[in-house]
Amino acid sequence: MNLPIRPRRNRKSAAMRDLVRETELTAAHLIYPLFVHAGADDQPINSMPSCKRWSLDGLVKEAGEAHALGIPAVVLFPAIADKLKTRGCEEAWNPDGLVPRAIKALKAAHPSLMVITDIALDPYNADGQDGLVADDGRILNDETVVALCKQALCHAKAGADIVAPSDMMDGRIAAIREALDMESFTEVSILSYAAKYASAYYGPFRGALDSAPRSGDKKTYQMDPANAREAEREAKIDEAEGADILMVKPATPYLDIIHRLRQVTPLPIAAYQVSGEYLMIKSAAASGWIDEKKVVLETLIGIRRAGADMILTYFAKDVAGWLIP
Ligand code: PBG
Repeated sequence: MNLPIRPRRNRKSAAMRDLVRETELTAAHLIYPLFVHAGADDQPINSMPSCKRWSLDGLVKEAGEAHALGIPAVVLFPAIADKLKTRGCEEAWNPDGLVPRAIKALKAAHPSLMVITDIALDPYNADGQDGLVADDGRILNDETVVALCKQALCHAKAGADIVAPSDMMDGRIAAIREALDMESFTEVSILSYAAKYASAYYGPFRGALDSAPRSGDKKTYQMDPANAREAEREAKIDEAEGADILMVKPATPYLDIIHRLRQVTPLPIAAYQVSGEYLMIKSAAASGWIDEKKVVLETLIGIRRAGADMILTYFAKDVAGWLIP
C-alpha cells in the first residue's frame, strides 16, 4: 500500500511507546484510604477483600509501608463503636476520639506522610446520615455545617494536613475555611468532595464501617448520577469558597465529569475509585478471567487520562509496589 501516514510507527517498540506515552501513573499520584478502629487487632473486612480495619499500631505500620513505596498521603475512615453513635454526633469532635489519636500516631511516626481526614458525620451518626437529622427526617444543612466546622478544627488541632469534606452540605467549604483560619490553621488544606454522586458503588464501604443510613437515602445532598452541569456548578462554588483541591466520586463511571471539571477549573482534581469499583475488580480477578494487576493499572491510567491529578484507591499500596522499576 502507498501509505505515507502510518500511526503504527509510533508503537513499533517498547522504547518508542515509552517516548510517546501521554499519561503517567506513579505512586506520587496515589492517596491510600485506610480504615481504623479502636480495637487492638487488625480485622478483615468481609465486603472488601484484602482491606482491613486497622488497629492504631496496624495503621501506623501499613501507612509507613505505603509511604516508603512513594505514596504521599493517606485518608482515614474510622469505624466507631455503636455506643458512641448519637443523633448529635458529638463524638465527631471529641479531641480524644479515634481519628485525633490516629492522626497523632501517624504524624509522630511518619512526619512527611500527609494525613487527610474525612469530614462528614456518618460514622458518628445514630442515623447513619452525613448530616444532622431533624425529627421529621430532613437533613439539616446549616446546623450540620456548624458541626462540620467543629470536626475539621478537631482534626486540624490533632495535626491533620488536609481535611476532606465529603458531606455535600451547602456552604461548608467557606465555613470550614473561616473556622480554620480563625484559629490560625491557615496551612491546613481543604480537599472538597465537590461532585459526589448518590452512588450504589459505596455499598462495600458502608459495610466496612457499618455506616449505612438507618432509613432513607442520601439523595437530598449527594448528586443525581444523571447530572453533569450540576457538577460544574458545585465545583465552581467550592472553588470560590476556597477549596484547594476538588474531588469527583466515584471515578470510573464518572470519567466525563473528571474531564469536564478539568476544562473549567485550574484547581487540582482528585478522583475517588470507591469501594464498589474496588470490589468489582477484586471479584472479577478472583474468577480468574481478568488479570487484576493489568486491569487496575489500565483503570487508573484511564482516570488519570480523563484529567485527575490524584487518585484515591484501595489498590494504592499494591500499585506502588507494582510500579517499582
Ligand atoms: C461518607 C463517605 C462515604 C465514602 C467516603 N466517605 C460513603 C457515603 O457517602 O455513603 C465512600 C467511599 C467508598 O465507597 O469507597 N461521607
